[in-house]
Amino acid sequence: MIRLMTIEDYAEVYQLWLSCTGMGLNTLDDSQAGIEKFLRRNPTSCFVATTQERIVGSIMSGHDGRRGFIYHASVHPDYRHQGIATQLIDAALDALKEEGIAKVAFVVFARNKEGNAFWERLGFQLRDDLVYRDKTLIEFERFDT
Ligand SMILES: CC(C)(COP(=O)(O)OP(=O)(O)OC[C@H]1O[C@@H](n2cnc3c(N)ncnc32)[C@H](O)[C@@H]1OP(=O)(O)O)[C@@H](O)C(=O)NCCC(=O)NCCS
Repeated sequence: MIRLMTIEDYAEVYQLWLSCTGMGLNTLDDSQAGIEKFLRRNPTSCFVATTQERIVGSIMSGHDGRRGFIYHASVHPDYRHQGIATQLIDAALDALKEEGIAKVAFVVFARNKEGNAFWERLGFQLRDDLVYRDKTLIEFERFDT
């Protein structure tokens, strides 16, 4: 079952993220306060997948009024290749479309071959004409799973 994610799901979703390799997490945005902030701004576009009350997948997505962004698409290793991530992404894309958002983007580690194969299959195009740049405004500690 796919349903909206709420902050009450945080502890279980966080454990799910730790069980997946290829996730880029950090101590600020992925803390309970960070996720609560994101959910408050994007209350209609973050979802979890459940089986018998256990959370086995999650996706966070939101927008800034122009572009949609997807973060932390993840499915527990024991539940992969059953179409769960596809359902989560469909739910997120529908929610963003409902908000009038015309295009959605995300970043993924180039080394994450499985993740990239997945996005390719879902029709997310690789933009080799762009360079991704960012700048830290508040220091945090990052860790990759
Ligand atoms: C990527 C991920 C979310 C896919 O979850 P999933 O529920 O298994 O995906 P789906 O079952 O919806 O897969 C849809 C299609 O994507 C492709 N795909 C999914 N996983 C794949 C893999 N490991 N290698 C190649 N293609 C893959 C397949 O074509 C698949 O269809 P199929 O199972 O009929 O072959 C999951 O593997 C995961 O959590 N990975 C770790 C975290 C991650 O890398 N997230 C994405 C980067 S942010």
